[in-house]
Amino acid sequence: MDADPMDTTRLDDDLRAMLAEVESDRRGEPSDYLEDVAGQHVDGLAAAVCTVDGHQAAAGETDHAFALQSVSKALTYAVVLQEVGLDAVLERVGVEPSGEAFNHLSLHDDGRPYNPLINAGAIMAHAVLPAGDHEERVALLVRRYSALAGAELEVSQDVLDAERTRADRNLGLAHLLADAGQLPVSAREAVAGYLAQCSVTVTAPQLAVMGATLAAGGTNPVTGERVLDEWVAQQTMSVMLTCGMYDATGQWVAEVGVPAKSGVSGALLGAVPGALGIATWSPRLDERGNSRRGIGIFEGLSARWDLHVL
Ligand code: DON
Repeated sequence: MDADPMDTTRLDDDLRAMLAEVESDRRGEPSDYLEDVAGQHVDGLAAAVCTVDGHQAAAGETDHAFALQSVSKALTYAVVLQEVGLDAVLERVGVEPSGEAFNHLSLHDDGRPYNPLINAGAIMAHAVLPAGDHEERVALLVRRYSALAGAELEVSQDVLDAERTRADRNLGLAHLLADAGQLPVSAREAVAGYLAQCSVTVTAPQLAVMGATLAAGGTNPVTGERVLDEWVAQQTMSVMLTCGMYDATGQWVAEVGVPAKSGVSGALLGAVPGALGIATWSPRLDERGNSRRGIGIFEGLSARWDLHVL
């Protein structure tokens, strides 16, 4: 990164300039089932960054809270690695890009989902969390997500209700995982918890701090709390780089080159190791389910700040 991380005026100015560049882009549609969820307004736009030194900048609707959705998959992967260790997680879920859409089954021959950032792998990673039932699993995640963000986060009941109306495919995936003999809890239990983790809401500045905590090797640069071991942050960002943008990840790495994870709410989280976290929110999605204006902002910032990791 060639921006002086101390120069928050430049961070602010560049963020505002990037937002102005993408603002008029109305291509793509928001996720249909989330359209009715309170506050999910289709042309909303926010972006935020937090450096590993704790310097923050933000632009757009920075107070607006949106659901993490699939961004939670990367965060849960970090939490479960921290809780049970790498070997126990690798026994249940791999680290290979699937090359298929996020809601495909994509299992290795031994029954393990390809990676923790597709739905099957995310349901598995959730199920491996050490806890008695799904409420305890969700409570553990909310605590750890909050530490990553340096803020008290919670599950949005509104979003969770919407998720529950269209859980058939996730339940189907979970039943197939159970049938393959790999799921440590029941399919219903696993999906109930997974949907709740997707329904945790954050603002763009909070999400940027989560990214900065990963980028800083597991210590939250704002609160100073060590939340994750360094190897956990490294493993999580590795899988974000190779699998985080679904079947568009190859193009993303070539053009933007930042470990990232997208969500159907229009959320996008990036973590540039040793430099900063970036978060954007804009609900209109492209055909692969990634936020259009979010991608535009990341492309612009990557070029401006020389963020490509290669
Ligand atoms: O699993 C689902 O269907 C949602 N709760 C999350 C999916 C998601 O964010 C996919 N993203 N593009």
